[in-house]
Amino acid sequence: MKRFIDHEELARDSRFIRQDAAQANVISSLPDDVETVVNVFEQFGPMIEAGVRGTSAEPLFEELGPGFMLTVLNEPLDPEAPAALSRLLLRMHGIFVGELQALEGAARSLWDFPDAPWEFKMNMARQCWDEARHLQIFEKLLVHLGGHVGMYPESTFLFEACCSEDPAMRVAGVNRGLEGLACDVFRDMIRFADKTGDEVMKQAVDFVLADEITHVRFGSEWVKEFTKGDPEHLKRTQDFRREVDKRFSFGGARSDREDAAIPIAREDRLEAGFTEDELQELSEISGIGPSKATLTEAAQILRDRYHETRDAQKEEAS
Ligand SMILES: [Fe+2]
Ligand SMILES: [Fe+2]
Repeated sequence: MKRFIDHEELARDSRFIRQDAAQANVISSLPDDVETVVNVFEQFGPMIEAGVRGTSAEPLFEELGPGFMLTVLNEPLDPEAPAALSRLLLRMHGIFVGELQALEGAARSLWDFPDAPWEFKMNMARQCWDEARHLQIFEKLLVHLGGHVGMYPESTFLFEACCSEDPAMRVAGVNRGLEGLACDVFRDMIRFADKTGDEVMKQAVDFVLADEITHVRFGSEWVKEFTKGDPEHLKRTQDFRREVDKRFSFGGARSDREDAAIPIAREDRLEAGFTEDELQELSEISGIGPSKATLTEAAQILRDRYHETRDAQKEEAS
């Protein structure tokens, strides 16, 4: 079996629709400038539209235009907001495919580094077992909320961003970057389930979060072990994690900002081996990017222009 596969080689059955990761990459590198954000999304418009046609994301595109992900990502989940269920299902589906990619990341770590210590392989095998269970849990939660697997397109952006070919960087990216993001998202889902009184979701996600803390801890410990006695390697590994953390902040949607859609789960991360200095740094990294006001204004312009163009086309056709 091949080692170090590309994200495009990840196998999926016919239920899944693959989406280009370009949109996710763009969101994580936007400047704080309304005009640039609008231009970028208008440029990507046809590609974004082609990616959602025939999926459950189509109504969100019809409503919000090519910048729909800006609204979806940056507004906190609110059971009273318009299209609340679509947005909840979109996030739940994103978590489901995230779990799938976490399973693939851990399984690849087990396979890609045959010379790694036995304890590392046991940790990665344990993680695979957990992630497989998480997949089943989130598939059931999707159905519990009225959704199903494959209802939204999948971008393999997470796997792509964190699967380095260096073992220290792999665990820094997968176990500290991706699993750390999972802690932030799951703490937010528990808060949401608490708000809506959904005891099933609250308890299920709480169980999953306990495992994710262990997975981050694997990362915290193995980064130290793989870079022991080599400060230069440790530095390169930390730089890689910073880059992954910036990409996984989605332009500030996951950050310490007061109005962040997904706040950083400080307590959970401390328990998982992040230091205060690292959390301070994460807070700074995730806060870079366009302000919420910029994104809101850009999303509004994109929405208005999309509706204007569509109305003009309709008029022409009639
Ligand atoms: Fe997981
Ligand atoms: Fe995990």
